[in-house]
Amino acid sequence: MLHPIVTQARDAFKSVFEGMADVAVQAPGRVNLIGEHTDYNAGFVFPAAIDRWVVVAARARADLRVRIYSAMHDEVAEFRVDDVLEALGNWADYPKGVVREFQKLGYSLCGFDAAIVGNVPMGAGLSSSAAVEMAVGKGLVVLNRVEISGPDLALLGQRAENHFVGVNCGIMDQFISANGRAGHALFLDCRDLSFDLVPLFGDDVQIVICNSGVTRGLTDSAYNDRRSACESGVSLLARAMGKDMRALRDVSMEMLGVYGGVLPEMVLKRCRHVIAENERTQRAVILLKNGDLSGFGELMVASHESLRDDYEVSGEELDLLVEIALNVPGVLGARMTGAGFGGCTVNIVERDAVPALTDAINERYLRTTGLIPEIYVCSAVNGVEQVG
Ligand code: GLA
Repeated sequence: MLHPIVTQARDAFKSVFEGMADVAVQAPGRVNLIGEHTDYNAGFVFPAAIDRWVVVAARARADLRVRIYSAMHDEVAEFRVDDVLEALGNWADYPKGVVREFQKLGYSLCGFDAAIVGNVPMGAGLSSSAAVEMAVGKGLVVLNRVEISGPDLALLGQRAENHFVGVNCGIMDQFISANGRAGHALFLDCRDLSFDLVPLFGDDVQIVICNSGVTRGLTDSAYNDRRSACESGVSLLARAMGKDMRALRDVSMEMLGVYGGVLPEMVLKRCRHVIAENERTQRAVILLKNGDLSGFGELMVASHESLRDDYEVSGEELDLLVEIALNVPGVLGARMTGAGFGGCTVNIVERDAVPALTDAINERYLRTTGLIPEIYVCSAVNGVEQVG
């Protein structure tokens, strides 16, 4: 099905570059249902791709020039595919970083014009950046007639983000944007990238995302701090246990119980979150497969509490959104989603309870914080695909 956003991208292309785009590609944002801050610990995540997209409409050029128009910034960036590209700290770093990764793989790319249009809220923790990377990456695949698998495209996008943009993210966001499937969430083992697409709830239960309106500020440094705490935790535990362990994925709650004493208090809390979250995520997938949505929801709540108390990446606004939601009958689970420090919560909600949840949030959240929340009732969609 063609979404209006695809038409918008084609129209933007036409008005900026004249003539029609040859190709249109859409890549979705994501919501993570459970498994937070586990991806960079070689652990488990369980995200779904959501019906908010970044669309790239593009046309190959006969020369090596590149012109990219971003509707979100109303700006054109220009460079050449054979340039030695450098990051400038603006939106164009994302597409440029992806082009750079293709260059590194030895592809001689054609020049192109492209328009980027999106309706994934930016800075809200729903992975608009990963969607840009996957849409540009797939656009290049199509324009240059090359073959790259979904998992490899995700890794390419992650490298662009780590090495070019300079954000030290894990693999989750790019992976789900590349490999999601309609009606499913994706259970990913971030160590070997094996995955299982798990059917989501039927029509009677919906995914509701609440945007706190707090944009992530300190996230990058706090995110890196959390990563460092995990790394130091695993190396201290490995030394105490006399084992060659590289990731918290390899530590169980029992092991932490026996050897946790070697860790400074703060590192112990960070490790406890990651280890428990890995166990919760695996259990949650089994519960979902067995149709136990209440059990799944309870684990989402436990995940939130652990992110709040042990990992300390929640915040007053996210906690309030979760508290309001859990007081509405028919809300089965609620938690913060994504890196934290603002952004969104994810809720699983009986369909009939969605209006009551919306009312409760609109009323209490605004009254308490003075911030206007946004609410998105979402469905799970396919990963990146060519749509024209
Ligand atoms: C961000 C990162 C992901 C992941 C989450 C936390 O979204 O990009 O790789 O680490 O935070 O789960």
